[in-house]
Amino acid sequence: MRILVTGGAGYIGSHTLIQLLREGHNVLVYDNYSNSSPEALNRVKQIANADFNVCEGDIQDAGKLNEAFGSFRPEAVMHFAGLKAVGESNEKPLEYYAQNVSGSIELLKVMQRHECRRIVFSSSATVYGNAKYLPYDEHHPMQPTNPYGRTKYFVEEIIRDWTASWGEASAILLRYFNPVGADPSGRIGEDPNGMPNNLVPYISQVAVGRLKHLKIFGADYETRDGTGERDYIHVEDLARAHLAAIEFSEATTGCEAINVGTGGGATVFEMIKAFEHASGQVVPYEIGPRRDGDVARSLAAVDKAERLLGWRAKLSVADMCKTTWNWQSNNPYGYGSK
Ligand code: NAD
Ligand code: UFG
Repeated sequence: MRILVTGGAGYIGSHTLIQLLREGHNVLVYDNYSNSSPEALNRVKQIANADFNVCEGDIQDAGKLNEAFGSFRPEAVMHFAGLKAVGESNEKPLEYYAQNVSGSIELLKVMQRHECRRIVFSSSATVYGNAKYLPYDEHHPMQPTNPYGRTKYFVEEIIRDWTASWGEASAILLRYFNPVGADPSGRIGEDPNGMPNNLVPYISQVAVGRLKHLKIFGADYETRDGTGERDYIHVEDLARAHLAAIEFSEATTGCEAINVGTGGGATVFEMIKAFEHASGQVVPYEIGPRRDGDVARSLAAVDKAERLLGWRAKLSVADMCKTTWNWQSNNPYGYGSK
């Protein structure tokens, strides 16, 4: 199948590409490299031993998108492109709405113009907001607590209206929980710009000696050890979920939101211990105050993914830590250099 992948050079996109290529799909990556490196794409080609097309462009650039669709004629789109930092979205909400919401509208318009009727969209568990009950199922009320989360919520609603208006259209909204881990080759992985916002990239930069110690954001939550609990999902499992979703969309019309998690959770202390075990390094930490906007626990109900997509997560927290360390220790400065 011909699949156009927006944001394919990024963390989750690059891991998904490997599996698309292994399945023999024909791919065009459309990315502006605002948060990624073309080097990730070179490495994907080597790992998968396969080639694909690349177009450097912004999803807000309708002309460029139109050209890419005209020459590649995709049958489906995987839409990863967007901005994703919660804290930054509070400071630059208009930038987030422009890139994530307006950019997605441009993409949908061009898709329709070229009669491309299938999309898999990267949504997030953050659309749920504070838990009314756990685990979050797909019917849980949606009350995102920051501009980033609201962009995901709005795009979901826009895509839902778009599919309702076009009987042949099919959309899968994948609500990721906490993606971590890396390809087992150790050649691609998460490479955040500047200070990492998320727990596992932060821990791995401490373990490799780039950062001095981890700051734990609160140890007074109502969890088994007082630290925040999350449903971490291996990026390789997440990539497989995309393949299952694109297959499912071939046979269906309409719009489905589907959680992508494991159904189990790990606390910050548990993640530190697992990472120390996988890496053989000590991860020094300090306990600080809670981070604004954080919830105590976040866990996915995963039966819908299993029922509709025939997909379930296979990899463990130990696998997530082992592959993250393999990537980080082989590439202490990610795709760049010190
Ligand atoms: P990433 O930043 O590594 O990848 C995003 C890619 O999109 C990058 O290559 C970037 O250069 C590109 N991009 C950004 N804006 C663009 C634009 N306007 N035009 C073209 N390309 C653009 O992020 P990721 O972790 O791979 O996340 C992928 C998607 O999944 C994002 O939409 C993100 O919001 C969503 N998501 C991520 C997480 C997570 O924890 N990583 C959780 C839930 C949802
Ligand atoms: N944490 C620390 N110290 C850090 C970073 C995180 O103690 O330096 C803690 C947090 O307080 C939380 C846990 O580690 O308890 C996980 O935090 P992350 O920042 O890794 O993940 P979040 O669940 O807060 O948020 C992530 C993404 C969001 C996405 C959400 C749900 O950053 O974009 O998962 O998918 F919306």
